[in-house]
Amino acid sequence: MPEKSQTPDEKLQQEFNRWAVAGEGPKMESHHLNITEKTLRLMNLRPGERVLDLGCGSGWATRLLARLVGEGPEGFGQVVGLDVSDEMVRLAREASRDFENILYVWGSAQQIPWEENFFDKVLSVESFYYYPDQDRALLELFRVMAPRGKLFILINLYRDNPYSLQWVDQLKVPVHVRSTTEYVELLKEHAFENVESSRISDDTPTPDDYQTKSFHSLDDLRAFKREGALLLTASKPDLRTPAPGYTIY
Ligand SMILES: C[S@@+](CC[C@H](N)C(=O)[O-])C[C@H]1O[C@@H](n2cnc3c(N)ncnc32)[C@H](O)[C@@H]1O
Repeated sequence: MPEKSQTPDEKLQQEFNRWAVAGEGPKMESHHLNITEKTLRLMNLRPGERVLDLGCGSGWATRLLARLVGEGPEGFGQVVGLDVSDEMVRLAREASRDFENILYVWGSAQQIPWEENFFDKVLSVESFYYYPDQDRALLELFRVMAPRGKLFILINLYRDNPYSLQWVDQLKVPVHVRSTTEYVELLKEHAFENVESSRISDDTPTPDDYQTKSFHSLDDLRAFKREGALLLTASKPDLRTPAPGYTIY
């Protein structure tokens, strides 16, 4: 019997389900925590805000976000964690039972199952370069973000960090390898404002006995961390996006 052909999202689901079952979900926290904490500080999160964690994996960053926007004088903030891998969503729900202000949703960045003009802030950690159609993901982000909402995309795999390119052949799903300039242009083409890029280095030490499968050597891993992740920030202009088929007067 010929194998049923899979959509790009189904391939991603299958691959990241495999990661989840292999225990990679929670492990990613140790790899991404340092750069994510620095990004959280830049996000200037406030109690009462509505936040989307796009490509949330096992949900460790979602929980950090939920603590920062939880109950306060300005209201009860909510965080939505969205991931294409149902196994990652399962892990995330399991680990977040004590949180009343998190909702995990299984779905794709290509078609975000949420209403228009909703999220004050969006964080996406190490996920954006997997999206098969990044234009479509940006259209979706623009749609679900609130007017003046802020977008924070953190990417470790990009052309300007040559050490990160060692992974491309090891990954079992296709990825985009764009430069900083290309990403900035892409965001501007999608009508985002205040588009900026910066580098977030990872200053955690790499011990001499650390085992790495992803890098050719520990020196390459250290250089990769020093070069740092690309942080893209942007905001949605102060206008409302009409829902499909509707006009806002
Ligand atoms: C490298 S992991 C990072 C997970 C998490 N942000 C973290 O730092 O631990 C990439 C995540 O993006 C998710 N992902 C990939 N493509 C996606 C898509 N099209 N829509 C939503 N999530 C996606 C994967 O399922 C996976 O959980």
